[in-house]
Amino acid sequence: MKYGYFDDDKREYVITNPKTPVKWTNYVGTLAFGGIVDHTGGSLICKGDPALNRITKYMPQLPSSQFKGEGMYLRIKEGDGYKIFSPFFVPTLDAYDKYECHVGLGYQRIVSEFHGIRTEVAIFVPPGEHVVVRDINVTNLRKEVVELDVIPVVEFSHFDALKQYTNADWVPQTMTVDAERNADGTVLLRQYAFMKKQYENNFFTSNVPVDSFQTDRKEFLGDNEYGTWANPLELQNESLSNSEARRGDTIAALLHKLGELAPGETKRIVTQLGQDEPGMVAETAKKFRCLENVDAAFRSLGQFWDEYLSKNWIETPDAAFNSMVNIHNPRQCHTTMNWSRYLSLYQLGLGARGIGFRDSSQDVMGVLAGVPDDARALMRKLLSVQLPNGSAMHQFFPLTMEANEGDSREDGHKQWYGDDHLWIVQAVSAYLKETGDYGFLKEEIPFYSKALPLEKREKGTVLEHLHRAMEFTQANTGAHGLPLLGFADWNDCVNLLGAAESVMIANLYGRALQEMIELMDHLGAQPAAEKYRADHARMKKVVNETCWDGEWFVRYYEEDGTPIGSKQNSEGQIYANAQSWSVFSGFAEGDRAEQALESVHGKLNTDRGIKLSWPGYNGFDPTKGGITTYPPGAKENGGIFLHTNPWVMIAETLVGNGDRAFQYYNQINPAARNDDIGRFECEPYCYPQNILGDEHPQFGLARNSWLSGTSSWTYQAATKFIVGIMPTHGGLEINPCIPKAWDGFKVVRKFRGATYRIEVENPEHISKGVASVVVDGEPVEGNVVPVFDGGEHSVEVLMGRESNDAGFGMKNKVQEATAAL
Ligand code: GLC
Repeated sequence: MKYGYFDDDKREYVITNPKTPVKWTNYVGTLAFGGIVDHTGGSLICKGDPALNRITKYMPQLPSSQFKGEGMYLRIKEGDGYKIFSPFFVPTLDAYDKYECHVGLGYQRIVSEFHGIRTEVAIFVPPGEHVVVRDINVTNLRKEVVELDVIPVVEFSHFDALKQYTNADWVPQTMTVDAERNADGTVLLRQYAFMKKQYENNFFTSNVPVDSFQTDRKEFLGDNEYGTWANPLELQNESLSNSEARRGDTIAALLHKLGELAPGETKRIVTQLGQDEPGMVAETAKKFRCLENVDAAFRSLGQFWDEYLSKNWIETPDAAFNSMVNIHNPRQCHTTMNWSRYLSLYQLGLGARGIGFRDSSQDVMGVLAGVPDDARALMRKLLSVQLPNGSAMHQFFPLTMEANEGDSREDGHKQWYGDDHLWIVQAVSAYLKETGDYGFLKEEIPFYSKALPLEKREKGTVLEHLHRAMEFTQANTGAHGLPLLGFADWNDCVNLLGAAESVMIANLYGRALQEMIELMDHLGAQPAAEKYRADHARMKKVVNETCWDGEWFVRYYEEDGTPIGSKQNSEGQIYANAQSWSVFSGFAEGDRAEQALESVHGKLNTDRGIKLSWPGYNGFDPTKGGITTYPPGAKENGGIFLHTNPWVMIAETLVGNGDRAFQYYNQINPAARNDDIGRFECEPYCYPQNILGDEHPQFGLARNSWLSGTSSWTYQAATKFIVGIMPTHGGLEINPCIPKAWDGFKVVRKFRGATYRIEVENPEHISKGVASVVVDGEPVEGNVVPVFDGGEHSVEVLMGRESNDAGFGMKNKVQEATAAL
């Protein structure tokens, strides 16, 4: 079954059948103002924080056919009553002649034909503004004149989203809407919870005269709400009752009587849903009543994405790879950087979740070329919730910057996560390599303290924050000398008691040490570089001496020394992350690295992706924690948890296995599912978080689309490791690891203010190995292209010597090779 197609020229995915297996969504705006819009026009919009400042009422658990957050009705006089239908299909579900939802970059454009009326609605947030614009065009396709009314509707949420869902008296007692009619006939509806009256008002308005309006859901649906969203009874009246709600479930419905449309005639209406200070609302609302401003804003949205995507443009012989790596994957990276794991159809933006420390640190690494300033701003926030001892608070709320310890407050567990702080070391390092902005290291940022006000908190430079992160892991090791797990590491769902140790944290530490060594070398801080080298060597020894299980690395040690992820276990024998990260950290080398990856291939791989672990735990076991709350094959319990897949791709490139890295890339490419979405069910234009594994009867079913670390890491795997263009402190390193079949590829890469036009040729059809690099006609030594002061530069790369070199020794190999020529 197929629900749509990719239109790469327009950078869109076009949904042509509205009955997708689950709602397929897109994002408009940013966390500053925006949210999700589904493919039938429903929307979940917030400003600054979905939990604390939510605007529309979108309940994902309701069936797909239901009105959610926003919708629109058209009506045509028929006999004594009206024919009423929604151009978005939902909630009236009429038969359509055409239905298209164009999932664009920062916009959703729904084009439909129902009952001889063509409707085209572009939904977007103008860059930097705090409104959602819906630009509506209706065209009469009939042979006769038609009298058409257009009624857009919004349903509001209480700003405190959790309260909206858990309170049925206080919330409705506080909800209020006021109406203002302007001299030109337009109407402005202001909605607020009573306590927000003087502070922030939501507003809904349009640019054309309004016949009448409704703000009380009960009156709109009619018959004590035995009228329904599929057939709101008040729409059978000539006009709405103009009531200004003083309590209850508040909505904003504007009835526009467009009058007669001749055959072929089009009329345009623009609505705005926004939020501003009360004194500013009327003024703000004027801007997008002006159509020139609407058109200009839509153009500037396109320019933003042109610029963002132009930083890294890749042309390989594989069209599906190109479409993903140039459009959909970087767009998803921008989405995850904005929304962390905070707001999607699956991450409900409620309760104590907030912005995750480890999640956002990883997201940052996916957007560094495109929006480095946004990445830096987010890293500042993350560093400000790092504790003086170097560990980090697990998450924070962006509006208040209050942070919490996540689930680690549970009894019997350590009160911290063992991994969070090690991700920010990688993020800052990647940022420096991309931008060369070493001044950032000197910026002073406070350490977090719940007890102290901001101005009294201890401060340290960014570099000091990184050193402390390293010290925390160094100081918290267990019986084998491995880092303590804390409440959990990257795998949130293995929650071992007491002083359990984590092999993945050892590896994350190893990777972070490599970053610190490179940074210290670059800064000329030799004593620190030497110390980190010694730390790396020490942990490498510990991992190799205590964690090798014969054919793979174990994943954890429980407090009593029992291994997890070992042949000795009947369930959870092997975990992917212990293998991929042991290679990525530089701890596993040579045959051992290859053997570990072979074990992943043999025991964990499926044609739908690599499973996180195997076999699944079959029954709840409180000593293991969250992982055993899932049936075998689901999520972290042996599911294809997609985030782990790019790490295996990266590890395969480090051992020089380009064909296998690319096989792993293709088997999780959602675009490859497009022609038979079947069991997959989720959007083909973004990575989901999880796919059910082959131990589950519904093997292949995806869920939790959009907000997953899969996005940043698959983008990094594709661009830095497969295509192999890696920012380093000294320049752009070129070290591809590609399928042997490729003749080569081209990349336009903008890096530190210069544009590099890179052409790689692969005449010998090998996976890895660079024989020569010629920059602006001059051969360079090694495979690092220098940093330039702007301008355009040609880079010709000839692949020619196969290397199975693991880790990052490639550069020296190539240097030796070129020196010998
Ligand atoms: C979810 C969490 C992430 C965690 C992963 C694995 O995606 O957001 O922080 O690393 O699950 O448990």
